[in-house]
Amino acid sequence: MCNFLRICVKLTKKVLRLTFYEVIYIGLIFFTIFFIWVWINEESKITKKVDNPVIMWWTSGFPGTSGTISCANNMKCDFVKNTDNELYNVKAYLFYASNIKFDNLPLPRKPNEVIWGLYHEESPRNVEELLHEKALSLFNYSTTFSRYSDVPFPLQYLDSLDDISSTKYFKPISLKINLLKEISPILYLQSDCETATERDAYVKELMKFIEIDSYGACLNNKEMPKKFREDYLNNLNEEEFLHYISRYMFVVAIENGVCDDYVTEKFWRAIKIGTVPIYFGSPTIRDWLPNNKSAILIEDFPRPKQMSDYLKMLLNNNNLYEEYVTHKTKKEISNKRLINELKIRQYQINALDVASKFECFICEKLHDNREIKVQHIVNKKHYNCPKPISALTLQVNPSNDWVYSWEVAKKKVDDIYDQVISFK
Ligand SMILES: *[C@@H]1O[C@H](CO)[C@@H](O)[C@H](O)[C@H]1NC(C)=O
Ligand SMILES: *[C@@H]1O[C@H](CO)[C@@H](O)[C@H](O)[C@H]1NC(C)=O
Repeated sequence: MCNFLRICVKLTKKVLRLTFYEVIYIGLIFFTIFFIWVWINEESKITKKVDNPVIMWWTSGFPGTSGTISCANNMKCDFVKNTDNELYNVKAYLFYASNIKFDNLPLPRKPNEVIWGLYHEESPRNVEELLHEKALSLFNYSTTFSRYSDVPFPLQYLDSLDDISSTKYFKPISLKINLLKEISPILYLQSDCETATERDAYVKELMKFIEIDSYGACLNNKEMPKKFREDYLNNLNEEEFLHYISRYMFVVAIENGVCDDYVTEKFWRAIKIGTVPIYFGSPTIRDWLPNNKSAILIEDFPRPKQMSDYLKMLLNNNNLYEEYVTHKTKKEISNKRLINELKIRQYQINALDVASKFECFICEKLHDNREIKVQHIVNKKHYNCPKPISALTLQVNPSNDWVYSWEVAKKKVDDIYDQVISFK
């Protein structure tokens, strides 16, 4: 090494005609520049400097925003990819709940510096952890179907008020009565048979008292016309199919989970085509009915026998039946809350618009938070799904698998919470 250096110095001296000290000086200067260059590069690898607060969708897939977004009052934020987590000083992580992996979270949590935001539009069946408030409380802001979430979308499955009053698919009552020679008064169309709400158990019992046509995999007793049979789950909103199912007087609409304000297309599709939903699911459904009598609620007729008696009475009295479809026959929508909700939160009919709205909500918080630091933690009201209740008994059935997994999820959440909080 020493020999090598001496030869270098000698050579450089000869070629450039420099003195020994000059060579050493130049060498030192080059070395220092090189060192500074390496150091700056390392620094910028740790935190890339950008102009705006940095937000990251930690979960991959939907909605995949990247680049700069511009929100109210020209507040801007930069979205970066989750593969670049080490490179930026991320101020907010957003999570699309259906894709969360609780064993892969951006830790340490840094509760006073970093905000976590939660987007969930589904019932808890795919993320049971969120049944428990402790899991919710890991997050600071939420966008969910609950009216109490920060960016609410309780009407995610209602496209427009026009869908409620439009008679495009609606069959007049005289025609429906005539059709009873060919079909049953009630439609059941479900292929997901094991649910927290035990909808099959309910329908099975109701079938003992009144005829129900069941086309799906659950309690199947009737074949669909050939043209619908293939891949019908992906064609539920095709015009021809909607005309086909709108021939029924009633349709069983039981959600797969019970959460406040969780009202799905099962309900809104029935309203759209003008068949009367026999409904169980959101405990707050009354707040969203177009009119007081737009659905028959299972909670009002808690035994299937009572329900069938009531349905038979409607079948024998056109005037009584007609009270349930005044949104079609009279284009009546008396629910002010419903009208208002759709007017003031138009973003909610489109999942991507919901995501953008939430991104800006968070971005604006980050800009605000430079001055004020107010603590905000997601609580049960943002996603209120109690222990699953059976449609049949309107009580918790301890032998239901979903009730068991509720308990399992609770233990899991305790572990997750401890891990997140104690992570150093
Ligand atoms: C619907 O029912 C509620 C409570 O039972 C009542 O206060 C309201 O006036 C009713 N609305 C209509 C349009 O009948
Ligand atoms: C965000 O949530 C965490 C976890 O609950 C909490 O400790 C923290 O104070 C919250 N931060 C803000 C700014 O609300």
